[in-house]
Amino acid sequence: MPEILKNSLQQNVKISNRARVMQASPLRKLAATAEVRKKQGVKVYHLNIGQPDLPTATIVYETIYKLGKPTLAYAPSAGINQTITAWKNYFKHVGIDFDESEIIVTSGGSEAIIFAMCAICDAEDEIIVFEPFYTNYNGFATIANVKLHPVPLSISNGFHLPDISEIEKHINKRTKGILFTNPSNPTGTVYTKDELRRLVTIAQKHNLYLLADEVYREFNYDSEFYSIMNFDEVKNQTILLDSCSKRFNVCGARIGALASHNKDIINSAFKFAMARLSVATIEQLAIIPLLNNPDEYINPIVDEFRKRRDAVYEYLKTIPNITYYKPEGAFYIVIGLPVKDSEDFCKWLIEDFEHNKETVLIAPAQGFYATPDKGINEVRLAFTIKIEELIRALEIIKLALEKYKNR
Ligand SMILES: Cc1ncc(COP(=O)(O)O)c(C=O)c1O
Repeated sequence: MPEILKNSLQQNVKISNRARVMQASPLRKLAATAEVRKKQGVKVYHLNIGQPDLPTATIVYETIYKLGKPTLAYAPSAGINQTITAWKNYFKHVGIDFDESEIIVTSGGSEAIIFAMCAICDAEDEIIVFEPFYTNYNGFATIANVKLHPVPLSISNGFHLPDISEIEKHINKRTKGILFTNPSNPTGTVYTKDELRRLVTIAQKHNLYLLADEVYREFNYDSEFYSIMNFDEVKNQTILLDSCSKRFNVCGARIGALASHNKDIINSAFKFAMARLSVATIEQLAIIPLLNNPDEYINPIVDEFRKRRDAVYEYLKTIPNITYYKPEGAFYIVIGLPVKDSEDFCKWLIEDFEHNKETVLIAPAQGFYATPDKGINEVRLAFTIKIEELIRALEIIKLALEKYKNR
């Protein structure tokens, strides 16, 4: 267990407020319980995390074995030239034109998001997010000393965006941008062109930046994906936050990108990048073949996740009294359960319930909300295990709900 999770023995030295309010993973305690159950011989199905189970393409390792660099040197701060060119090629492939000078290679999408927040906000400035949102945005905002201002979405329309006037109610003098995930983690919602146009209209009217987290771009199952980068009228206001992690199944490589046509944003991100020196050299080189030939690697992954999405959606129809919708993308769904407090249910499920020596770990959705008491009966499931296992895990949840009700 990291030291930060224990009480400090040094009474006279204090940590910062920022460190105190920094959230630990909302799942930390439940994950620890899952490990205890495993030691007791109980099989635990993990539907709690966005770490896909599929193998990484062998070309990644082949590239690494072939490198044979005499010195493992720092890479340039903005990224290795060939890696930047590979990102440019990939963007072109998905219909987005960037020049090499408009791309900074980052340590995952995570660093790109932090750089973007730091580039547009001073301390205590605000960024609008749509709630529920990717829980680590909270942590990034704490690091960047930025306030997230949540705009509530509703499970009743599959977490699609409200109309312009509703979003505008949340804009104030300190608002600098709108950060959105498309396709969404945790909801799997894919925004339509019309919804994106609403954001464009608001950004133009209020001079805001649009921070587009499109790390799940290809995980879009039912229609053509429309990127915010396709709206030329806000070219100078958009910042694209991207990552190889999910689409290529290389989460551990930690390769992402920040891209923008706005030179001030790129220059700022470059200064932040210089301060942290560089992104890992070996991984930057290892992912080049993937970015240069995306379809070959991404299509099988997306096909598998589409099947999983369909299987989950079909099975959910058999569970009584839950609220759900068909997620259009990514590999997550938020479900409303017939319970008062989903945190209590998730805890009970992993601590006390088992069926034929098997149980499930799922994420209570409260961790994806900033507004207290929102999402209190909701959970998020990730489809990151095989279909047979997913179905078995859902069956266990169904049995558990029945027993929980009758406790
Ligand atoms: C919506 C979203 N954005 C960004 C990230 C960051 O991923 P990475 O830093 O691995 O690129 C994740 C990871 O789960 C995510 O779900």
